[in-house]
Amino acid sequence: MCGIVGYIGQQSASDILVEGLKRLEYRGYDSAGIAIADGGALDLRREVGKLRNLENQVLATPPKGSIGIGHTRWATHGRPTTFNAHPHTDASGDLVVVHNGIIENFVALKSELQGAGVKFTSDTDTEVLAHLIASYYTGDLVDAVFKALDRVEGTYAIAVLHRRNEDLLVGARRGSPLIAGIGEGENYLASDIPAILAHTRQIVYLEDGQVAVVTREAVKVFDEKRQPVDYHITRIDWNLVAAEKAGFEHFMLKEIHEQPTSLANGMAGRIAEREGRMYLDEIGLTPEQLRGFKRITIIACGTAYYAGLVGKYLIEDLARIPVEVDLASEFRYRNPVIDEETLVITVSQSGETADTLAAVREAKRRGATVLGLINVIGSAIAREAHGNLYLHAGPEISVCSTKAYTSMVAGFMMLSVHLAQSVGKLDETQVQHYIAEMKRIPALVARILENDRGIRELASRFTSYRDFLFLGRGLNYPTALEGALKLKEISYIHAEAYAAGEMKHGPIALITSEMPVVAVATDSPVYDKVLSNIQEVKAREGIVIAVATEGNVAIQEHVDYTLYVPACNTFISPIINVIPLQLLGYHIARLRGLDVDQPRNLAKSVTVE
Ligand code: AGP
Repeated sequence: MCGIVGYIGQQSASDILVEGLKRLEYRGYDSAGIAIADGGALDLRREVGKLRNLENQVLATPPKGSIGIGHTRWATHGRPTTFNAHPHTDASGDLVVVHNGIIENFVALKSELQGAGVKFTSDTDTEVLAHLIASYYTGDLVDAVFKALDRVEGTYAIAVLHRRNEDLLVGARRGSPLIAGIGEGENYLASDIPAILAHTRQIVYLEDGQVAVVTREAVKVFDEKRQPVDYHITRIDWNLVAAEKAGFEHFMLKEIHEQPTSLANGMAGRIAEREGRMYLDEIGLTPEQLRGFKRITIIACGTAYYAGLVGKYLIEDLARIPVEVDLASEFRYRNPVIDEETLVITVSQSGETADTLAAVREAKRRGATVLGLINVIGSAIAREAHGNLYLHAGPEISVCSTKAYTSMVAGFMMLSVHLAQSVGKLDETQVQHYIAEMKRIPALVARILENDRGIRELASRFTSYRDFLFLGRGLNYPTALEGALKLKEISYIHAEAYAAGEMKHGPIALITSEMPVVAVATDSPVYDKVLSNIQEVKAREGIVIAVATEGNVAIQEHVDYTLYVPACNTFISPIINVIPLQLLGYHIARLRGLDVDQPRNLAKSVTVE
């Protein structure tokens, strides 16, 4: 999730661009850059690391010019380096582009351009755009952008500037957000409101397929057929802090609601239903190499560990490869059985968790091949791994992990199918079935999020309890574990989770009307078993909140409250079923008046053992 800012007006563009990029800091970044046009030349400045590195460079020798574009990069293709930082230029250095999104066909476009003699200087998908627009440029930048975008598959929000067109910026979006800001004799482009809220509250939300032509005098918007579009100007009344959360009260709630997009981004370009296969070359392991592993060990902490448990169930069920899941903090001290025939999959949002990093190094020392399932590109654990399947979830600001968890689980869904196909356990038709189910996930998650208000109302009944028990079976035992962790780490209510079948071996002694039980009881091969566990709870005056499948009215006779989710294949249920539990934990904590985004004693990345 990168940040884009564009400015055209009477003021110094660099001041406005750098300030705007700082307001997009919450979107995360590992490099940043600006490009300013002045007197027929482009002044390009790029720096890796914190935004202040760019700011210091710009302050030392301020670029002149009152039109420019800027970008903070959250790397998806290519590591955080100066060469991979945006803006990217074409070979002549005449035009610059900044981009947020994923160009799914960039490999094909890149080889076409290289075939025409174009030399590339970065590993990014964005650089392809710069050269592609240049290849169509004959003096009309808008025409060249339209022609280039007609060739692009995937998602983008872009801003484009040509040194010979110092009187206009071109913006466009498909699948990634882009707004235009309306000023007096000056106008703006941005990924998000905070970047320009200090200068204007008159915002135009561009829609997918639209192209904006921004001059000092006006903002004009065109549809994909190049027809002019009447647009609505929205007046923004938020303050700056609220704007960074896109109007949500907390980053956690914003990130919960981002999941339809983050999950779609994580699957983009990697699942091919028509071909009946996954495109996971980026993991750096061929099907032949994957066939060489006799066992898999998954290493992680916290929420990532629970995602690993889902991974175990999926990989063993589909690929029939034995899988162990280990807490990273335990792994390295128990003399684990690891060798060259072991594939270690390490899972981490931050890629900086000390326990996980140390465990990965120990696994490598013992001869294992390490594959990372990680959100932050170029993080320490990602650099230790032999290959990575990046989550593409975008920065997760709230300490409490939500969208990263579901992206980890989606990553395991892709890996388990890919592994199974690689070892001959699934054929193309079967893979098509799994991919068809995965493609339903973003829309199903969006449907559940529509019930946010209903879950908030339910949460209001449970803010005073001191203990909770979460129950789940099979693929949704980890769902129960994750639901309990969400509640306990932000509401400070004691919550533990058990495999539902395990309740009779002890926890049932705890059941009273003072300890609500949350049961993941959606349609599945083990539904009847979970239902009987629910009846055991009810027989002891327990209170039961069930996550159940829409249409299952009968369950209401057995439980006190029902959180319905859409019907889906069990394969994708760990993602579908965790969404109401994320919202339940969030709303209970919020109603208890706690600091949801920064819970006491917790850090977003535990970089100490
Ligand atoms: C999750 O809500 C917690 N914040 C914590 O358990 C976290 O998942 C754990 O610390 C691992 O972090 P990582 O994914 O960045 O390695």
